[in-house]
Amino acid sequence: MALKTFYVCSECGNKVSKWMGKCPNCGTWDSFVEDVEEEAPKSRQIRQPARAGGYSGFESSAVPLDNLETPAFMRSQTGYAEIDRVLGGGMVGSSVILLSGEPGIGKSTLLMQICGAMVSRGNKVLYVSGEESPGQLKMRAKRLAVSGTDFYIQTETSIEKIIGETERLSPDMLVIDSVQTVWCDGMSGMPGSVSQVREASGRFIALAKSKGFSVILVGHVNKDGGIAGPKVLEHMVDTVLHFEGEREEAYRVIRSVKNRFGPTNEIGVFEMTGEGLREVKNPSEALLAGRPNNVSGNCAVCVMEGTRPIIAEIQALVAPTVYPSPKRTSNGIDYNRLYVLLAVLEKRLGLRFSTCDTYLNVIGGLRLEDTAADLSTALSLISCIKDRPIADNVTAVGEIGLSGECRAVSSAEQRVKEAERLGFKKILIPSRNVGKGKLEQSRYQIELLPVRSVFDALTADIWN
Ligand code: TYD
Ligand code: MG
Repeated sequence: MALKTFYVCSECGNKVSKWMGKCPNCGTWDSFVEDVEEEAPKSRQIRQPARAGGYSGFESSAVPLDNLETPAFMRSQTGYAEIDRVLGGGMVGSSVILLSGEPGIGKSTLLMQICGAMVSRGNKVLYVSGEESPGQLKMRAKRLAVSGTDFYIQTETSIEKIIGETERLSPDMLVIDSVQTVWCDGMSGMPGSVSQVREASGRFIALAKSKGFSVILVGHVNKDGGIAGPKVLEHMVDTVLHFEGEREEAYRVIRSVKNRFGPTNEIGVFEMTGEGLREVKNPSEALLAGRPNNVSGNCAVCVMEGTRPIIAEIQALVAPTVYPSPKRTSNGIDYNRLYVLLAVLEKRLGLRFSTCDTYLNVIGGLRLEDTAADLSTALSLISCIKDRPIADNVTAVGEIGLSGECRAVSSAEQRVKEAERLGFKKILIPSRNVGKGKLEQSRYQIELLPVRSVFDALTADIWN
């Protein structure tokens, strides 16, 4: 049969016959990759869906919503509370989870630990690796002190053979490390190509739904941090977990970015040790350990990560530039957010950041997405440029608007309580969050310092 070459957008899966610089569907530049498929005989080229039926694969007639039964999700605990919380209370039977992360971040380590914990709870697990030899896997298992007779390892990349083993063993959980190494017989393209990844994932999803076991697919990320392969992969699976953190830093954060069975943006925090990943039950304490005292440019912040408040430390360094255009780097805070804050401080407070290089860092490799970190970021920048330290027992929350105003934050009470628990004595908080029916000073030991704008923060009693 003749082979036909086409191009697929690695972001959205859009298929075109000629290479293009920009995808007309999703607008991504330089995302088309070459792929081949067998040309079907003319008689078969009629428009018909690849598979009849819907989600379950069966033809069905419509039923009134009121007649549908609420399913009782069978959730199994993974043995790691941090993971269970991220999944929304445990792993749902017949769900498909995509775990993505940069190479070397610890995906295989985490999965082997989860498998070990699941096996010790009486489950049967099949761990398929297409990347490592049985010897390497055994060595890792020894290092992690993982064992169990119901823990099966298969080093295989052919999907037919993997499915064959699942039929023989009927496991409770299947791990595919990684989905980019799996190839489907009869499908065109190299393993890892868009069509192979999509087909393999589709077959694993169908398998999970029909056989009732959970599947965890490991997905590599491309240079931009997205999941390599089509974006459609994220739409196909039930849950997408991102493994974040710097490889050099000990802390690793696992974040749910999509979850059909629970809330998103919930995080679990782990620490990489010599014996694998260790859960960090109290991230705030770990992140604040070893804070420098009385140094300018530092400010603590209380951010909400999912349902949990976490106190982190933001550090800024502002120094006169020797370059024609000043350098700005940011670790852990959105780059654009830093630009906006610098512009606000320059314009509203008259601080001259335009002649200075600015470096921003969140301690511990944490990435903050909560805009309530604005006030602390601004305070650390002000503290550094003025060379005046902020008292160590002070923390701040608040989103800053373009006029320098401080906007109300969500979950204010939880943030204040976490700051109080960790021994902070004062918290700068948007004035809109304080008052009758909101936060009342009488209920807290920690002193609430209401601020309407960044100007108020300048005159607040927090500076050493
Ligand atoms: P790995 O889990 O193989 O990462 P991934 O599958 O995401 O590519 O390993 C991550 C790194 O962690 C590796 O460089 C070695 C290190 N490591 C430890 O520090 N302690 C351990 O107990 C293990 C197993 C690995
Ligand atoms: Mg790996």
